[in-house]
Amino acid sequence: MSTALVILAAGKGTRMNSDLPKVLHPIAHAPMLAHAMRAGAVLSPERTVIVAGHGADQVEAAAREVDETAQVVMQSEQLGTAHAVDQARDALRGFTGDVIVLYGDTPFVQPDTLDRMIAARAENDLVILGFEAADPARYGRLVMDGDQLHEIVEYKDATEAQRAITFCNSGLLACDAERLFDLIAQVGNDNASGEYYLTDVVTLARTAGLRVTAVACTEDQTLGVNSRADLAAAEAVFQARARAELLDLGVTMTAPDTVFLAWDTMIGRDAMIEPNVVFGPGVTVETGATIRAFSHLEGAHVSRDAVVGPYARLRPGAELAEAARVGNFVEIKNAVLAEGAKVNHLSYIGDANVGAHSNIGAGTITCNYDGVMKHQTEIGANAFIGSNTMLVAPVRVGDRAMTATGSVITRDVEDEALAVARNRQENKPGRAVKLFEFLKARKANRQKGAK
Ligand code: UD1
Ligand code: MG
Repeated sequence: MSTALVILAAGKGTRMNSDLPKVLHPIAHAPMLAHAMRAGAVLSPERTVIVAGHGADQVEAAAREVDETAQVVMQSEQLGTAHAVDQARDALRGFTGDVIVLYGDTPFVQPDTLDRMIAARAENDLVILGFEAADPARYGRLVMDGDQLHEIVEYKDATEAQRAITFCNSGLLACDAERLFDLIAQVGNDNASGEYYLTDVVTLARTAGLRVTAVACTEDQTLGVNSRADLAAAEAVFQARARAELLDLGVTMTAPDTVFLAWDTMIGRDAMIEPNVVFGPGVTVETGATIRAFSHLEGAHVSRDAVVGPYARLRPGAELAEAARVGNFVEIKNAVLAEGAKVNHLSYIGDANVGAHSNIGAGTITCNYDGVMKHQTEIGANAFIGSNTMLVAPVRVGDRAMTATGSVITRDVEDEALAVARNRQENKPGRAVKLFEFLKARKANRQKGAK
């Protein structure tokens, strides 16, 4: 059966107290809306319609990043959830099949839950997703009658007895497209909020003799984000789930609760992630690699058996080949370290290629920026860069070449050459003692003067 997604994302999110539309607030470095879209994508929807309102241009741009074919429709006035779904009517003209309504601020619905909603559709005309709420607060209450859903009562309109119900409405539903729009056309706004409630389709469907049921899922999937505190709670839910998935895949984490993952972090089997590692977006860590404590990675690729950290920073474009090593207080940006290359201590390697098995000494810096433009540093294979070398780019150091410690390299170094670019040392016999005496005398004079 074909499906179409309608994702409601027009709300302002007043309680976020933000200039950013609510659905664009990030969880694990992706906007909430992107999580909701990806959750729905498991159904391989024929069409995806996003209902936008506040910050529609930004919402549209974010939606297109996830799915270029997503249609974004405007709801200029937020008159309620039924009115919001109704805005998708034209975009879904000619579509036959089921509409699944998702909320842009309810990002974590799981694939098997959507499957169960679709499965329940076989026996029912309308399927609502519900959950047992630990604290039902202001959620709509699901009034069941056996396996059938009798009605949904919004908190504001509920009696005390109805408020005691803990089975709540997530807002998600599945229904045949034509039928849903027929039902929505009949929804009025005579209620405590003066809004067009999508939840009213339940009573309308039942009155028309249709079968309506509710499928239950765990509360962590229906978690709606309305405030910054909710956003932080959603982040925690995402992190807990993502960590558990990695552990299942065979990744070792000694303190998983201290590892922070991005929505797209990929880590291979038998990789080892030490405590307090933070992943920004776009990171792949291959099997057998080790990321040591307190490292920060973003837009980086770490190959098999490479070791990163402790205290390393990999920025976008960092590409570590097999068994490469990046040690403490090293920053790598837009640079390739070929197989077995080592940058072990206190270095910045940016806009560079480092050849296989080359060793970069402590304190080495690629001076890649002249204040206006960025320049490239090329280091060959099996080269040895002495400690505290300044590589003033653009510059090339050849294969099996060396630079002397403390050199400022401004010209290319040919293969197998040793470059020495520092002042020659001069030793002055006895001069240290004289200098000490001079300095002590000066200090004594100053102290006398101060009295
Ligand atoms: C809604 C449900 C409630 C359910 C709760 C779950 C209704 C009437 N109530 O209440 O039963 O327990 O969600 O979180 O449906 N939106 C629009 N346009 C509008 C109104 C809302 O796009 O005109 C979007 C919002 O941005 C949000 C979603 O729809 O993503 C839900 O709207 P919200 O106002 O949060 O509904 P609730 O009062 O929470
Ligand atoms: Mg809400």
